[in-house]
Amino acid sequence: MAARQREISVSEFFTKNRHLLGFDNPRKALLTTVKEAVDNSLDACEEAGILPTLAIEIVEVSESRFRIAVQDNGPGIVRQQIPKIFGKLLYGSKFHRLKQQRGQQGIGISAAGMYGQLTTGRPLRIISRTGRRKPAHRFRIAIDTKKNAPVIQRDEEIEWDVAHGTRVEIELEATYQKGRRSVDDYIEQTALANPHAEIRYAPPKGEEIVFARVTKELPKESSEIKPHPYGVELGVLLRMMKETSSRNLRGMLTSEFSRVSSPVATKICDLAGVSPTINPRRLTGPNVEALFHAIPKVRIMAPPTACLSPIGEELLLRALEQRVEAEFCTAVTRPPAVYRGNPFQVEVGLAYGSELGAEDPVDLYRFANRVPLQYQQSACAMTKSSVSTDWKKYGLQQSRGALPAGPMVIFVHIASVWVPFTSESKEAVASYPEIVKEIRLGLMEAGRRLGTFVRRRRREADEHKKRSYIEKYIPHIADALQEILSLSDRKRDSTEGKLKTILERSRKI
Ligand SMILES: Nc1ncnc2c1ncn2[C@@H]1O[C@H](COP(=O)(O)OP(=O)(O)O)[C@@H](O)[C@H]1O
Ligand SMILES: [Mg+2]
Repeated sequence: MAARQREISVSEFFTKNRHLLGFDNPRKALLTTVKEAVDNSLDACEEAGILPTLAIEIVEVSESRFRIAVQDNGPGIVRQQIPKIFGKLLYGSKFHRLKQQRGQQGIGISAAGMYGQLTTGRPLRIISRTGRRKPAHRFRIAIDTKKNAPVIQRDEEIEWDVAHGTRVEIELEATYQKGRRSVDDYIEQTALANPHAEIRYAPPKGEEIVFARVTKELPKESSEIKPHPYGVELGVLLRMMKETSSRNLRGMLTSEFSRVSSPVATKICDLAGVSPTINPRRLTGPNVEALFHAIPKVRIMAPPTACLSPIGEELLLRALEQRVEAEFCTAVTRPPAVYRGNPFQVEVGLAYGSELGAEDPVDLYRFANRVPLQYQQSACAMTKSSVSTDWKKYGLQQSRGALPAGPMVIFVHIASVWVPFTSESKEAVASYPEIVKEIRLGLMEAGRRLGTFVRRRRREADEHKKRSYIEKYIPHIADALQEILSLSDRKRDSTEGKLKTILERSRKI
């Protein structure tokens, strides 16, 4: 036995368990690959304060093989970082920061590259440039999965007619299909939730599609915050005590957590029976556990919420009106709230129109930090909240335990410094009660506005029906009157005209 024990590298692990990262099948692999690259591009542009312009290309190499390229006008990546970013799993700049951004784990783009390499043997190709005065670098990077380390196959300086930005190319085994959960859908929805981005998309077949910017204003910059004590886990607290540079416990608590003032820290220590002046590294396991249990007993102010950057009601409404074929649109941005010490904010939009089939269930578009979520719809808090909302009140049909039916798109967005996904592939949001509540409140507010519209339209339709019925009979009435009263033809026609005028004037609106 002992001879057979051996360490497993993360890349070996994920090569065998690729479904965990969204590579379960060839169709999804294409989507995941595009998504990882696009998420990174948008994150990088936003962080650098650049209005994003993205070009996405999918080229069919053969029926089961595609080459994707995603190019951005972001800040670029410094040369020394490129190999690790693309050739090492769990390497990134975002994992250790509590900030509203698309990436979290540092496993996105390298995993896509690894999947490509696994299925086609081709390395990743990257071009990146950090500024006009800097050269552009072109890399070819393979991944040594045993060591979870990059293998640089080529590294050269090239001429590139782009001032700054990054281009990533990956060849992979995949299939391309249109329809629900397709790459096409994903890109369209990305444009909807990122009205400040220009996205050009060249699908494998057909013409380039351009999603122009709805606004030239960058989203308000989201800022990094410290963790809130209500959300900390015991294991994390233990580690923080070991790693802190503070020399006393009170100092550690006030400097490494948000909303912990000196009196609050003292209170936590008192309740736990631990001295606030002790060196955190000297704390025993039971000490830390006592602190952990004391935290929820102390009233601590909710974390700051200014760190969030929602789309905003006005802009979301404009995006819906421009991008979705609808007669009625509305948008609701809820005030920020908190789950397990993490600030979050929910936005809901509805676009209602007669274009789609009225019998079909509505389309539910789900977003987390502006990223469309395509899979695992039924496991998501957004679906559960939409299903448990009573849409009949707002004039829609709905069967028990189902989404409402009707020509409508429901848009739900959660923005948070840490979105609680149900798995690594980031497809469904976990149902924390606070999150479900916020989504439901948003849906209800939007639903009420929809109800007013639907009822008014129904009244108008009823009236229109009655009116056209009467209108049809007016000539017959005129004929009958002519006969009974022996009217001349001229008198008959003027009577008909008068009847029409009366009907016209009786219009309520
Ligand atoms: N297009 C890009 N422009 C600038 N930086 C990038 C780009 N793509 C990736 N990066 C950097 O590489 C890191 C790793 O990316 P990734 O593996 O997708 O993990 P994550 O996005 O979860 O951090 C990112 O944190 C970011 O710092
Ligand atoms: Mg990423």
